Amino acid sequence: MPRILISPVSGWNERSNYVWVSSRYSGAMSPETATARLREEHQLILQVVGVLERMVAAADSSGEVDFVTFDRLISFLRLYVDLFHHGQEEGLLFPELGNQGLPQDGGPVAVMLYEHGQGRALIRAMVDSFDDARRGDPAAQAGLLGAARGYVELLRSHIGKEDQILFGMADQLITGTDLTHLCGAYDTVADGVFEGSTRRDLLLIAGHLLEQYPPSPPGFRGEYPKGEGGS
Ligand SMILES: [Fe+2]
Repeated sequence: MPRILISPVSGWNERSNYVWVSSRYSGAMSPETATARLREEHQLILQVVGVLERMVAAADSSGEVDFVTFDRLISFLRLYVDLFHHGQEEGLLFPELGNQGLPQDGGPVAVMLYEHGQGRALIRAMVDSFDDARRGDPAAQAGLLGAARGYVELLRSHIGKEDQILFGMADQLITGTDLTHLCGAYDTVADGVFEGSTRRDLLLIAGHLLEQYPPSPPGFRGEYPKGEGGS
């Protein structure tokens, strides 16, 4: 059973079986930037995207899909990635960027919104093909795995663009009381319930997923901060 540990960074420690949760959520780290916790959420999302990739690879090599784990993973994508994380970006960060003068209907924000829509369509494709695939329909199974592959590719590219382009702009533009209000709004969302699941429930799902499909040695894709990866 994975445990949750408050830490300066988010992530998963395979050896000690912890999902790390940023101390930013506990109010221990202050002040923060407009995107610090979104960037940390990205690291956890990338790790779960890695689980999805490994599940697809396992299905490709064995011909069998692990439907129980797949179902859990789709729930995590729907609730944590889309409803919670993209919800904060679309409902809080992007509108605040609009207040700071960044257009919503063009440029990087519009690209990010478009890609969120693509992600939703791929999650919908997974959901729509899931039951038929579980009943043994080969076309539905191919559709499920194809949508999963597309999602892995999309999310890695999308998160790279946010981290490297848009979030840097946001950190420059949103400061002072605007930043304080934004971070308070993040806190409110993080305390919410997502179709019956709290953020903590969803982090535990991520922990279970990573437990079942752990990253291959030598470890993660450089996501651990120096000095903390193996402890
Ligand atoms: Fe994001």
